[in-house]
Amino acid sequence: MTTRNRQWRLEGGFGLDHLRLIDAPMPVPGPGQVRIRVEALSLNYRDLLITQGQYDPRMALPRVPLSDAAGVVDAIGPDVTRLRVGDRVSPIFAPTWHGGEPPADVLAHALGHRADGVAAAFIVMPAVDVVRTPARLDAAAAATLPCAGVTAWHALMTGPGAVRPGDTVVVQGTGGVSLFALQLARLAGARVIATSGDDAKLERALALGAAYGINYRTTPQWSKAVRAFTDGRGADHVVEVGGAGTLGESLAAVRPCGRISVIGVLSGRQGPLDVTAILMRNVTLQGIFVGSRADFEDLARAIDVGGLAPVVDRTFDFAELPAALAHLASGRHFGKIVLRKDDP
Ligand SMILES: NC(=O)c1ccc[n+]([C@@H]2O[C@H](COP(=O)([O-])OP(=O)(O)OC[C@H]3O[C@@H](n4cnc5c(N)ncnc54)[C@H](OP(=O)(O)O)[C@@H]3O)[C@@H](O)[C@H]2O)c1
Repeated sequence: MTTRNRQWRLEGGFGLDHLRLIDAPMPVPGPGQVRIRVEALSLNYRDLLITQGQYDPRMALPRVPLSDAAGVVDAIGPDVTRLRVGDRVSPIFAPTWHGGEPPADVLAHALGHRADGVAAAFIVMPAVDVVRTPARLDAAAAATLPCAGVTAWHALMTGPGAVRPGDTVVVQGTGGVSLFALQLARLAGARVIATSGDDAKLERALALGAAYGINYRTTPQWSKAVRAFTDGRGADHVVEVGGAGTLGESLAAVRPCGRISVIGVLSGRQGPLDVTAILMRNVTLQGIFVGSRADFEDLARAIDVGGLAPVVDRTFDFAELPAALAHLASGRHFGKIVLRKDDP
């Protein structure tokens, strides 16, 4: 049994050149905890913001980055009954949030920000903050779920405005959250309109099941195309990952009494907002912060039964984290970027 634990750390400052691969001591699970041998990790846009110091410039360093992993339980501490050695699992994005409303201090536990993340060969987690991965997914596919998959599930499949068969859903861009939203909406019997800044990616979104694609660079007022495609009605749901720069178009694209899930900040955090369109048309703006363990377990069941296959753009080796983040920063990806950890 190896006694070293290869671990990424962001230390000494922000930026890709402050990521260091070090040898840490092997963690030992205490009461109620399990140790996971990590097999695969996935990247989220948040990881890029965190590494560059744009997510939280006051974040304490050093910090083990990344929130999303899949692996196998290789040791358990005393008093663990939920899991056994050999179980295939993933940590949840926000430990302590198991269902319902999040605990008031949930941000203190979110992995890779105020709490150490999962970019290591071995990690120790409370057993209650771990879920079994879908049986039909390999580790690389399972590692894509904890943030992007759960966020898309929470946005579209929960609460009073959840997607129903026959609905029309707009997804923005072809990143991790948006492609999960596309696939989940299709699983639920909805019709999907995808936007992208790249026509070749739109072709791939159509091949994944989107009914219509709009290039937001050549058609900046894409809400008009959404309204035309829906015979003037507008979309039932918009998965809003653009943020300040896209919310105006989302409000113009959504139908009266429709729902916008406010998720991302790809085009900025702040900007002018005319609230008239929200109130006059009874639009629901729903803020989404990933989701709970219950959301993750519901997603895993839906994947096993429905057969959804996460879209993996490219796989890097564990030691190539900076290159993988640079690929994310390039915006060339379609779906999720994965790191594989083949040998401890
Ligand atoms: N609130 C939460 O809990 C939560 C959870 C996960 C993610 N997020 C946020 O959601 C956003 C997406 O995250 P992600 O991990 O899915 O990102 P990602 O995989 O890196 O995807 C980014 C993609 O979005 C598209 N895009 C970029 N600028 C755009 C714009 N102005 N309008 C429309 N699309 C645009 C691009 O696709 P094309 O090349 O096809 O145009 C780009 O490839 C980020 O802001 C992230 O921080 C929030």
